[in-house]
Amino acid sequence: MKITFYGQNSLHIEVSGKHLIVDPFISGNPLSKDIIDIKSLKADYILLTHAHQDHVLDAEAIAKNTGAVIISNYEIAMHYQNLGIKVHPMNHGGSWQFDFGSVKYVNAIHTSSFADGSDGGYPGGFVIESEHKNIYIAGDTALTMDMKLIPMRTKLDLAILPIGDNFTMGVDDAIIASDFVACDKILGVHYDTFGYIKIDHDLAKKKFYDAGKDLMLIEIGQSIDL
Ligand code: NI
Ligand code: MN
Repeated sequence: MKITFYGQNSLHIEVSGKHLIVDPFISGNPLSKDIIDIKSLKADYILLTHAHQDHVLDAEAIAKNTGAVIISNYEIAMHYQNLGIKVHPMNHGGSWQFDFGSVKYVNAIHTSSFADGSDGGYPGGFVIESEHKNIYIAGDTALTMDMKLIPMRTKLDLAILPIGDNFTMGVDDAIIASDFVACDKILGVHYDTFGYIKIDHDLAKKKFYDAGKDLMLIEIGQSIDL
């Protein structure tokens, strides 16, 4: 499994020969727009955690460009189906076996309106099990006790957690979240994009290190192999 960071909560995941894009917000992200060309992206599936603009901005363009299937909650799936895009609707607690592995849509504490104010259902995260590697993409969320449910079913190899604070967990809560999901290897996301979520990278890494955990903060366009 190869995971590439596109900024904010945007990721590209190569797994079992398939290409997954998570929460594409690239053309409107000043940190990503000159590094990542959305027209060149490969995608078989696009996973959307919730409907906020900093997660879905480029979903329609990439889906129409690639023919990718959008996987999200029911309300978001219907929004894109009405635009002529192939979708796979899910809801909280449900899993589905795709051709690259299984996906479970799990709880997040946040909101989920589209930019025009229309209903984006309730926000979530994803647990993906594939190629003997399991990852948790928290999406935008507060620290929540529901995270403790995840390791009851899944032994995670990587937790992708928001750490930028203000709109989501900050570093200190994300350290507790990594305890709750029983995973000490963390890819930090959802930081630095706007003034509200700028963080001190060295301090964040030190806090995780002091808690016995490994926080990875990778450059936009860089990848990690699991
Ligand atoms: Ni959000
Ligand atoms: Mn967000």
